[in-house]
Amino acid sequence: MSLKLNLSYAGEFASDENLSSMAAEVSAAHEMLHNGTGLGNGFLGWVDLPVNYDKEEYDRIKKAAAKIRSDSQVLVVLGIGGSYLGARAVIEFVRSNNYNLIEKDTPNVYFGGNTISSSAVYELIELCKDKDFSVNVISKSGTTTETAVAFRVFKELLEKKYGKEEARGRIYVTTDRVKGALKGVAVTEGYETFVVPDNVGGRFSVLTAVGLLPIAAAGIDIDSLMQGAAEARAKYLNPDLMSNDCYKYAAFRNLLYRDGRCVEMLAAYEPSMTMFCEWFKQLFGESEGKDGKGLFPASAIFSTDLHSLGQYIQQGQKILFETVVWVNNPKNDVPIDLDPVNADGLNFLAGKSVSFVNRKAFEGTVLAHTDGDVPNVILEIDKMDERSLGHLIYFFEKACGISGYILGVNPFDQPGVESYKKNMFALLGKPGYEDLRAQLADRI
Ligand code: PA5
Repeated sequence: MSLKLNLSYAGEFASDENLSSMAAEVSAAHEMLHNGTGLGNGFLGWVDLPVNYDKEEYDRIKKAAAKIRSDSQVLVVLGIGGSYLGARAVIEFVRSNNYNLIEKDTPNVYFGGNTISSSAVYELIELCKDKDFSVNVISKSGTTTETAVAFRVFKELLEKKYGKEEARGRIYVTTDRVKGALKGVAVTEGYETFVVPDNVGGRFSVLTAVGLLPIAAAGIDIDSLMQGAAEARAKYLNPDLMSNDCYKYAAFRNLLYRDGRCVEMLAAYEPSMTMFCEWFKQLFGESEGKDGKGLFPASAIFSTDLHSLGQYIQQGQKILFETVVWVNNPKNDVPIDLDPVNADGLNFLAGKSVSFVNRKAFEGTVLAHTDGDVPNVILEIDKMDERSLGHLIYFFEKACGISGYILGVNPFDQPGVESYKKNMFALLGKPGYEDLRAQLADRI
C-alpha cells in the first residue's frame, strides 16, 4: 500500500452519492489535463515526467551530486518558491527536519535566496565561509531578485575562497534551457547547467533537476522517489472518478469549498513533514488562489499545534476542513519504560512506545475535530521513505491540476505574484519602471 484515502471521517460530502454528482466535472477536468485542452496547457510537462524525464540529464544529476558529496561539507541551494520548497520538503521528509544537525556522511544543505533579509543572508555567509561548499542556484526565469542577489554574494564568496577556476567547478546552475539572465551568466562563466523544462512550472518542478540535484546531494535515493511518482501516475490515470482516489479527493475538496469551507488545513503528526506542508501550500495556493476564488491552504503539525491552533479548529468558525497525512510506520520508535516510583503517574503507558501515544493522539483528534464539525480526510502512507513520498507528491500535483480545472481557474499561472515585484523594482529604481515609481512615490 503506497497511499490509502480514508473518507470515513469526511462527512456527508464524501458519500458515494455526493461524490458521483461531480463525475461530469471531473471527467471534463481529466480531459483537459490529459488532452491539453484546458487553460495553462503549456505547463503540463509534470503529468508524464515520472516516466518521460530526460535520462541523460538524470545521469548528470547523479554525477554532480556525487561530486558535491565528495568535495563539499555544505551545499548552498539558492532559489525561492517552487525553486526550493520541493527539495527542502523531500530532504526533511526522508532524512529529518534536523538534517543539518544529525551525524551523516553527506553535506549539510542550506537554503538561501528565498529571502531578502540582510540578517539571514549574513548568517548564511557565516555558516558557509569556513567550510568547503558548493552552490546550486535555481531559477526558472533567471531573473528572480531574491535568488539573483544571493547568487551574486555567494559567487563572489566562492571565487575569493577558491579562485575563479575552482569556483567554476563548485557552481551548478538550474535554469531555463535558453533564456534569462542566469542562463547568460552560466554560459559566460562555463558553469554546469541543468534545465527547468519549459512545460513544467516552478511549483510542479520537484521531480526535475530543480529538486533532484539537491535531493541526491543529500544522499536520497532519487530512483525510488521517481519510482513512487511513476506508480502514482499509473494508479491515478483512470478517468473514472469512483475508481480514482486522487480524483475523489479533488472532487471532495471542491464540494466542501462550494459549501463554504474556504480553508484546507494539511495536518501531519511528524515534524519532518513541516516543509512538505509548505510545499503543499505553495502548490495549491499559487494554483487555485485567483479570480477571487480558491481554498486557502493552511498547515499544522500535530500534536504540537493542537496547543496553539487546536482551540480554533475545535470551536472557531466552521470554515475549515483537514487533510491529514498519517504515517503507519514511523522511522524510529522510543519505548516507555516502567518507573517503580511512578511519580508522574504514567505507568499506565509502561511497555508501550511513543509512537503508540502519537497514534492515540491522532485517533482522538480525528474524533474530536469531526465532533466539532470539521471534516477530516485521511491519507495513510506506510512509511516516510522515497517511494511513498514520490507517490504522495504526484497524488497532490494531480489533485491540484484536477481541482483547479474543476474550480474554473488556470492552475498553472501565477499572475498575482508579479504585483509586488513590479512595485519593488520601481522603488529600487530599476530602469524601465520610472512611471510606476512616480505613481507610487506619494504613497510611501
Ligand atoms: O511556482 C512558481 O512558478 C513560482 O513559485 C516560482 O517557482 C518562484 O517564483 C521562483 O521563480 P524562478 O524559478 O523563476 O526564480
